[in-house]
Amino acid sequence: MVTIRRFNMSDARAVAYLFVACFAEAPWFERFDVSEMEAEFVEMARGHNSVIMVADADGQVVGCSAGFPMVEKADVMELIEGGAAQAFYLAELFVNSQYRRQGIARKLVNARGERAVELGYTEAVVRTSEDQTIIRKLYAGLGFQIVATQDVESLKFIDGIEVMVPDRRVILKGSL
Ligand SMILES: CC(C)(COP(=O)(O)OP(=O)(O)OC[C@H]1O[C@@H](n2cnc3c(N)ncnc32)[C@H](O)[C@@H]1OP(=O)(O)O)[C@@H](O)C(=O)NCCC(=O)NCCS
Repeated sequence: MVTIRRFNMSDARAVAYLFVACFAEAPWFERFDVSEMEAEFVEMARGHNSVIMVADADGQVVGCSAGFPMVEKADVMELIEGGAAQAFYLAELFVNSQYRRQGIARKLVNARGERAVELGYTEAVVRTSEDQTIIRKLYAGLGFQIVATQDVESLKFIDGIEVMVPDRRVILKGSL
């Protein structure tokens, strides 16, 4: 059975492994170091008003959503007209490929949103790739709208080859 619960520091390694696996997939094709990601999740968990939820399948971490105050994501905040300084930033969402299409991401999004509301946030911002249509649809369905775009160059590992690829990011804002 899959349950959604708050992240514990002892989840950090498993969350980092899952993150690395999920973002090696299309459309991201990115390569991250597990230990660096583990340290990032630990740091995030220690942050003021951060929220990390995990999907737990009988003791195995199979999904994660994470977020923190928008002010801590200055590079995204400055792209938004008005700044959205009071918003909550929806930083991460990923689910083990074996557990997809079962509504786990949606539950993780809802649980993170509920916790952010408890912390006093009413609006949220998320950034994704223009090519990540699942996420764009998921948030569009929750009433989020595109408020900015960002053209970046991403280092991708496709078929074992390292390439710099132009990538358009879309930034969406909505109510919690
Ligand atoms: C995106 C991701 C988190 C979705 O996880 P998931 O648990 O399979 O999603 P859910 O089952 O909760 O589905 C959420 C919605 O997306 C839709 N969806 C999920 N996967 C889909 C797919 N492959 N194709 C089309 N729609 C899809 C579902 O139908 C559902 O919509 P509905 O409720 O209207 O039917 C998962 O595919 C993933 O981890 N991808 C890699 C990491 C990533 O890209 N994260 C987002 C970074 S911004």
